[in-house]
Amino acid sequence: MTAKSTINRDLPTLTADMRCGQVFELMRMYESGPALAVVDDRDRPVGLIARHTLLQAFAHPVTYALYENRPVRLLMNRAPLTVDAEETIDRVSEWIANEHPDAVDEGFIVTADRRYLGIGTVLQVLDSSVARARQQIAELESARVAAEHANLAKSAFLANMSHELRTPLNAVLGFTDLLASGMAGTVTERQGEYLRDIQTSGRRLLDLINDLLDLSRAESGQLDVADARVDPARLIAEVQRMLAPRAHAAGVEVLSQPDTRDQIRGDERKLLQVLVNLATNAVKFTPQGGVVTLGVSRTADGGTALWVRDTGVGIPESELDSVLAPFGRGHDAMVRQIEGSGIGLALTRVLVELHGGSLVLDSAPGQGTTAQARLPSGRTLPADLDPATPEARQPGTSDPDLRDALSAGGCGR
Ligand SMILES: Nc1ncnc2c1ncn2[C@@H]1O[C@H](COP(=O)(O)OP(=O)(O)OP(=O)(O)O)[C@@H](O)[C@H]1O
Ligand SMILES: [Mg+2]
Repeated sequence: MTAKSTINRDLPTLTADMRCGQVFELMRMYESGPALAVVDDRDRPVGLIARHTLLQAFAHPVTYALYENRPVRLLMNRAPLTVDAEETIDRVSEWIANEHPDAVDEGFIVTADRRYLGIGTVLQVLDSSVARARQQIAELESARVAAEHANLAKSAFLANMSHELRTPLNAVLGFTDLLASGMAGTVTERQGEYLRDIQTSGRRLLDLINDLLDLSRAESGQLDVADARVDPARLIAEVQRMLAPRAHAAGVEVLSQPDTRDQIRGDERKLLQVLVNLATNAVKFTPQGGVVTLGVSRTADGGTALWVRDTGVGIPESELDSVLAPFGRGHDAMVRQIEGSGIGLALTRVLVELHGGSLVLDSAPGQGTTAQARLPSGRTLPADLDPATPEARQPGTSDPDLRDALSAGGCGR
């Protein structure tokens, strides 16, 4: 919207030598304007007579007599706010607020090609601003509705696609398992190798499809979290067992350090996935000879942290945000073409947040990484007091480095 929308076009213009008494009569006839413009012989504004200035001058018999027959230029504001009809309402509002507070009472002159067009008023500026704000709200609302539809369409598309992909993929994997087992005929050593390749790639693809589906469901609030009693030490042991072949192949040692016997109220399958994702990363990004430790500790605020610490390559600070985004991968991982698609941490974060917790990464290049899934105190189910396990009652961990990270909340991610 422009200044044009603020003007009152019906007002007459004045010339500088008109008598004040004449102008006073005109003002009485045209009550709608806060002022009248004074123009030259080419219709160019030279000043503004404000209604209140004229009324003031005519209020007293002495000043009335003084001004009645004198030229109106004596009472004229010679430098009123003058704006082009195409100026935006925002600019006009800015000028009024910062340079021309006089325009609040007097209004301002609107021109086209520097010729007088009308008198604009602050009331009209406000009206136009409100109309514009309403229009913007309506546009935003329809954009929001469109985005919601698009999001629903995306979720439906992903759900259908993953079904369409998973069904044939499961058949491929099923037949591959059958062939590999030798039940469908003898398989040569080389054929066996190919079949194992198909199995590995197929399972990876299936995992990716499942992760993408979970991520999209979680984003649209369709992923439920079960509220069961989960034993974190058992989760850690299970992940350690699942990871053993991979860690062995990579020459990485996997240790466990459960610092508390507290239980967790949460979704066992999802928490297992959290630990598997973090531990898989730790093994993947730790060079031969390194150590990966899986643990659980009570945090300073009474919550529970499931954590994975490695002695690997670490993550530069500049990448700590981007690696948490869907498909976000570190520069190093891409350069060295380390397998993966950058979904793991994004999904892990969503799964932890669904539990009301937060995913915290503490890392520096060459210093290793500690990833913590911090769950709130409401999810801690304290273990029965047992004198044999004092740590069951003690918050925190016996590990000084981790204790610092747990109480400081890491770098806040
Ligand atoms: N423990 C770690 N040490 C060093 N870098 C890590 C570690 N964990 C994650 N990263 C960095 O964060 C990136 C994102 O991790 P994420 O788990 O999301 O993806 P990915 O492991 O590359 O692939 P995906 O998990 O989907 O198979 C990784 O590519 C890597 O650059
Ligand atoms: Mg990963």
